[in-house]
Amino acid sequence: MAPGIGIHEDSAAAVEKVTSLAQLTEDWDDTLRFYVNGTKVTVDTVNPEVTLLEYLRGIGLTGTKLGCAEGGCGACTVVVSHINPTTKKIYHASVNACLAPLVSVDGKHVITVEGIGNVKDPHPIQERIAVGNGSQCGFCTPGIIMSLYALLRNDPSPSEHDVEEAFDGNLCRCTGYRPILDAAQSFNKNNSCGMASSNGGSGCCMEKNGGGGCCKGSSAGNQDEKVEIKFPQPDFKPYNPDTQLIFPAALRKHEFRPLVLGNKRKKWYRPVTLEQLLQIKSIHPEAKLIGGSSETQIEIKFKAMRYACSVYLGDIPELRQFEFHDDYLEVGANVSLTDLENICALAVERYGSAAGQPFAAIKKQLHYFAGRQIRNVASPAGNLATASPISDLNPILVSTNTTLIAKSVGGDKHIPMTEFFLGYRKTALPPDSIIASLRIPIAQKGEYMRAYKQAKRKDDDIAIVNAALRVSLGDQRRPQL
Ligand SMILES: Cc1cc2nc3c(=O)[nH]c(=O)nc-3n(C[C@H](O)[C@H](O)[C@H](O)COP(=O)(O)OP(=O)(O)OC[C@H]3O[C@@H](n4cnc5c(N)ncnc54)[C@H](O)[C@@H]3O)c2cc1C
Ligand code: FES
Ligand code: FES
Repeated sequence: MAPGIGIHEDSAAAVEKVTSLAQLTEDWDDTLRFYVNGTKVTVDTVNPEVTLLEYLRGIGLTGTKLGCAEGGCGACTVVVSHINPTTKKIYHASVNACLAPLVSVDGKHVITVEGIGNVKDPHPIQERIAVGNGSQCGFCTPGIIMSLYALLRNDPSPSEHDVEEAFDGNLCRCTGYRPILDAAQSFNKNNSCGMASSNGGSGCCMEKNGGGGCCKGSSAGNQDEKVEIKFPQPDFKPYNPDTQLIFPAALRKHEFRPLVLGNKRKKWYRPVTLEQLLQIKSIHPEAKLIGGSSETQIEIKFKAMRYACSVYLGDIPELRQFEFHDDYLEVGANVSLTDLENICALAVERYGSAAGQPFAAIKKQLHYFAGRQIRNVASPAGNLATASPISDLNPILVSTNTTLIAKSVGGDKHIPMTEFFLGYRKTALPPDSIIASLRIPIAQKGEYMRAYKQAKRKDDDIAIVNAALRVSLGDQRRPQL
């Protein structure tokens, strides 16, 4: 990731004022263009509130399941491949299709369980889960397979820990996790040789290697240690990253156009620049902003909230950048939490372990924040604007003395996090403003920073209590009594 892109302090001052949304959007497009399992799709008549899951099942791709409908079980997991506006690289995101608005996949490639293999010709992941008894009723299986598929597409040689973590947003009710995990761990770089990825396509572990098992010689990946092979190795298909569904060439050049969908009663806007977003907010301060949709979709489904005007801002490049400064990190408010984890790791490297304590604390907290599918779409802005008392991030942002930059057509407002929360789900964000970025200071000399989350289980659970502590020790000597 290249540091230093696109966060300019007073950019909002130059925003042109418009008086009506009709004027602003007169030449906006009303057609979604994306790919499903390698096939180009255009959709121009769509209820703007449709989720990706409703759409996929509606076109007959019923391998993707509907379980909880609230991002908690992972049965609806699909992969959304896209050029990440933060890293500018292709990222294969495991996503909960039950929460994702269809409008969010414009310009992206949606891959479902049907796209990677079938009963006659299963994908290596499908084969190993089946042969390894990782599926009984099969309801959770497509979601589990797609979480593992996303992991392998991003990194064909994952560590044991990476494999385990890839499932933190998937539940299975009947198989039990052991066989699922065992089958999945056959892809980790220690358990195998990395298969075709690292040895140029020949495959190894799961092919018979002259009776010798893995070319690395041991289940721990230590080439010097010989392991006695007691049973014939199963003849699994190797995973070959070069033969997977390619990222469509047309999407590399996809022109992101602003979109307006729906009718007079219910409209969805998909601005592609910060300026367009601020203009919408200035005309319609009550417009509902949608980022990762991990809160808003729950409000729509379970709290019967209805929004006449929704604005999807999840891919606006200006809200997805970050920049390292001498004494603070500025991070776009709608970076995904997965990207925030990586940015914090870079920040610890850059500032060192003492000054980088706030970033180490955020990274640690994010590890226990929801599951990977949620972290792939959810944003710090969504966490802040929701102002929920069970938020995992907000206590750290307050204790680090972070400053929030709010933007509107009128200009920027710098709000210290200590003044942002006014009460239960009430914030100091002006109605015509959006949260644009966060300035997170490094720790000063003598400061110590730690964050804690206590929940009923470690992964994918809401906190019983959160704490973030910053202790500042001066160098005064203890007073003589
Ligand atoms: C299964 C599940 C597990 C979860 N686990 C956790 C957890 O462990 N810890 C935790 O803290 N939370 C958790 N959450 C809550 C949620 O994921 C977070 O609050 C997340 O940060 C919301 O981000 P989002 O981008 O998805 O927000 P959205 O749902 O898109 O939006 C949430 C709110 O933020 C506003 N908003 C979004 N972007 C902006 C912006 N730039 N400016 C102003 N307003 C904006 C929206 O208008 C909306 O009011 C969980 C949710 C689910 C469904
Ligand atoms: S259906 Fe449970 S996470 Fe989507
Ligand atoms: S196999 Fe039945 S829920 Fe997982």
